[in-house]
Amino acid sequence: MAKNATLTWDGKSYDLPVVVGTENETGIDISRLRAESGLITLDDGYGNTGSCTSEITYIDGENGILRYRGIPIEILAEHSTFVEVAYLLNFGELPTADQLVELKERLTKHQNIHENLKHTFEGFPAHAPPMAILSAMINAVGCFQPEVTQPEVDEHFLDSAARLISKVRTIAAASYTKSIGQPMVYPRFDLAYTANFLHMMFSRPNLPYDPDPDVVRALDQIFILHADHEQNCSTATVRMVASSKANLYASIASGVCALWGPLHGGANQAVIEMLSHIRDSGETLESYVAKVKDRKSGVRLMGFGHRVYKNFDPRAKILKSAADKVFKKLGIADPLLDMALRLEEIALKDEYFVERKLYPNVDFYSGIIMRAIGIPAEMFTVLFAIGRMPGWIAQWREVHLNPKARIYRPRQIYTGPQKRDYVTLENRG
Ligand code: CMC
Repeated sequence: MAKNATLTWDGKSYDLPVVVGTENETGIDISRLRAESGLITLDDGYGNTGSCTSEITYIDGENGILRYRGIPIEILAEHSTFVEVAYLLNFGELPTADQLVELKERLTKHQNIHENLKHTFEGFPAHAPPMAILSAMINAVGCFQPEVTQPEVDEHFLDSAARLISKVRTIAAASYTKSIGQPMVYPRFDLAYTANFLHMMFSRPNLPYDPDPDVVRALDQIFILHADHEQNCSTATVRMVASSKANLYASIASGVCALWGPLHGGANQAVIEMLSHIRDSGETLESYVAKVKDRKSGVRLMGFGHRVYKNFDPRAKILKSAADKVFKKLGIADPLLDMALRLEEIALKDEYFVERKLYPNVDFYSGIIMRAIGIPAEMFTVLFAIGRMPGWIAQWREVHLNPKARIYRPRQIYTGPQKRDYVTLENRG
């Protein structure tokens, strides 16, 4: 039975429909509120605002649950591959054997970038931030696909999605080889998605790179764990841009820029920088934590806290044990991993973090694994973007396929000066 909530304001009552999701999340639909009452709602940072309904990803932050299209992340991380997960996110079901072969063939077909795009790369300075290159190059790739992606035609949409998912790793690897003054490495047709990426990162004309299967698996898991995360900052950005009917490439390029910030995807790099800083400065972990707790210092414990998770981030749990396996396999002893483990222990016992429900998030361990694989810290957020690509594409499509979708256009409460007179130049100052 449909339920309503009632809002009373200025002597009048307004009935507001209550919307219940498939996992019993409950929201009040205020879309008619302003038309009926003149009121808007105010929610800085959107912490309490549902901006859409979505069928793609479910998070229960209180219980540390994350599911793609209903399937728990732990099961996908253990049994699936990134390419299968990309299909699941976009089409709602895991692919059949034939569908998987078809997707893999499309990924291989689209793995090269147009030769002319190599000149675009040359225009960037060697020290250009790879996230800036990635965002610019995604729009540039779009210029080479004259036909507009048709989200309602499965076949056409699959081809565009495969193009982006495939090319993004070629662009990412090329931005890295450029930054170290090495030639771009072409993709191989015989390697699967993640192994091919590692090949493009680390093979050199005079030195082939043969990726270790356990390393490939660990990175594939990192991509799976990053593949979607409902309405986070970058995904909400992709949907915002998509709502203006912007094309797939423009919308995704915007998402890359949003992801770049250190409070979002940039946190994986910031974690390593924080740990290196503590090690190099000789500061103790205890004194660093004390600094974090001192509100005046403005220092945050990077890789800790989350807007939605008020319990362990399930992705961090999986990565913590993946880090263990990778380190054992590669026989690496990284003092930064030991510091991270100690830091986590200290923080989880500290009243400041306990009270605020601050737990390690996905970025706390992903950087440590990527570092062990040999990925430089400047590339960490780019790898996050490679992983997030299928989710952004699925969310873009959901906006385009929603017959009720309207352009995203939030309101505001204006707090600036009231109407005043214009002062001519000679009378100012
Ligand atoms: N270190 C110290 N204090 C923190 C931290 C932290 N990492 N995160 C939150 N707090 C405190 C914050 O100061 C506030 O305290 P008080 O209530 O006394 O004012 C309280 O916890 C609530 O924080 P908030 O800023 O209102 O929380 P938010 O939901 O706006 O921010 C966050 C979420 C992820 C931006 C934040 O926790 C943070 O800055 N974490 C560090 C950066 C990071 O690891 N980001 C990656 C997020 S997960 C992957 C992704 O989204 O890309």
